[in-house]
This record gives sequence, structure tokens and C-alpha cells, in this order.
Amino acid sequence: GGLWAVVPAAGRGMRFGGDTPKQYLEVAGEPLLAHTLRALLAHPALEAAMVVLADGDAHWPDWHDFHGKPVLTCIGGAQRADSVLAGLAALPDGVRADDFVLVHDAARPNLRKQDLDALLERGRADPVGAILAAPVRDTLKRAGDDGGIDATAPRERLWRALTPQLFRRLQLTRALEAARDAGIAPTDESMAMERQGHRALLVEGADDNLKVTTPADLAWFEYLLAQRRE
Ligand code: CTP
Ligand code: MG
Repeated sequence: GGLWAVVPAAGRGMRFGGDTPKQYLEVAGEPLLAHTLRALLAHPALEAAMVVLADGDAHWPDWHDFHGKPVLTCIGGAQRADSVLAGLAALPDGVRADDFVLVHDAARPNLRKQDLDALLERGRADPVGAILAAPVRDTLKRAGDDGGIDATAPRERLWRALTPQLFRRLQLTRALEAARDAGIAPTDESMAMERQGHRALLVEGADDNLKVTTPADLAWFEYLLAQRRE
């Protein structure tokens, strides 16, 4: 069978602000989430998506398919990791324990096909899986409690974790459960996998695989979209 995507979309967008959660803000006549789902489901390897919604979500357009592929929904939790766990649990039985599953933030609408190609090719050849990541371009400082600079972190080996992240259904579920049971809320899947000693691959992706966190990020996406349509 094909690959399922779990799309966490249950956040409240506190850093973005406003009344409408950012994943539902309109961009070029569609909610942001539509751009994200299209970028995923347009890929021939993708079979369907499980979109994880906030309890009581009043904005979900009640899609049952998108781009001709099934879209299912389930209810998420308080932290992103809780939402991803809920999404993994809600996948149909046809998705087997050792099948790979793709996890991709609803708030990342600008995924490039060639990045998804690279992630799938290299991740599916890896025993554990892989994530998209981008090299850090800034000079990074470690601060002391007093705000003084203690050290400069060499950036040569530092990467920004992006999504999608590709892992096997059961191994990822177990890793997220272990983090939860330890009282840790991992901010991405690979963080939970690392804790279990599972060493995933970094696959370099484009810098413009942006996560809409603030209004400036949304303006960036609108700019990229307009450029693409020129
Ligand atoms: N997410 C989720 N469930 C949560 C928290 C986040 O499904 N409990 C999702 C968001 O909807 C988003 C992705 O995880 O698509 C990345 O999270 P983030 O950018 O932090 O979004 P929010 O948590 O909504 O924003 P903020 O942290 O500013 O409140
Ligand atoms: Mg958040």
C-alpha cells in the first residue's frame, strides 16, 4: 500500500495571535491547511492523510478527500506530541506496525516535491527513518543566567529540524509514549526517537520549508506563492 501522512493541526497558534488558528487563515483563497495537504497529497507515494484536529474545532472544512485521496480526522491533545500520538493511533489497521508513516506540520505549507522525493528515497532505505533538516546559518551563542555570553556553539554540525519526518508506525508510537511517560514533550518526532537510541538520518531540505509561527512567516509564504504563480 501507499504511505500515510499524519498532519498535526490541533494547535492554537498562540505565538501567531488572533482569533482564527493560523492553519485556517486564508492564503490565495484557501485555508493554509489546504496548501499543506496539497503539497503532501500531490506526491504519488502518498495514499491518504490523517489530520489531527483540536477538540471542538469549528474551522475544519469537513473535507473527506483532497486531491482525490482520502482525508480522515481525529482529535489531538495538549502538546504537539500528544496530537501525533493520537494520529498514529487513529490510522487504519491496513497501516502495519513496521510501515513507514510521514508526520508533517499543518503549519508548513511550502514543502517542495524534490525534498519529499529525497526524504522518501533516503528514509525508506534507512532502518530507522529520516527527517528533513536545514543547516543553521546564524552564529549561535549560549547565554548564562545573567544574559552574558558563555560560549559560541560551532554551527558546522547544527541543523534545524523540519518536517516531514519519516518513521515506522510502531517504533514512533513507542518512542512518543516513552517520552510522555518520562514527562517530556518532544517538539519533533526525531527527539523522541533519539531518546530511545534510534538514529535517524538527516536529509537536507530547502530553507523555505517554513513553519508559519508569526505573521511575518505568513507574509513570507504569500510572497513565495505569488512568485511561484508568476
Ligand atoms: N499542534 C498540534 N497539537 C498541539 C500543538 C500543535 O497538532 N497540541 C500542531 C500545530 O497545529 C502545528 C504543528 O503542530 O501544525 C506545529 O506546532 P506550532 O507551530 O507550535 O503550532 P501551535 O502550537 O499552534 O502554535 P503556538 O506554539 O504558537 O501556540
Ligand atoms: Mg506550539
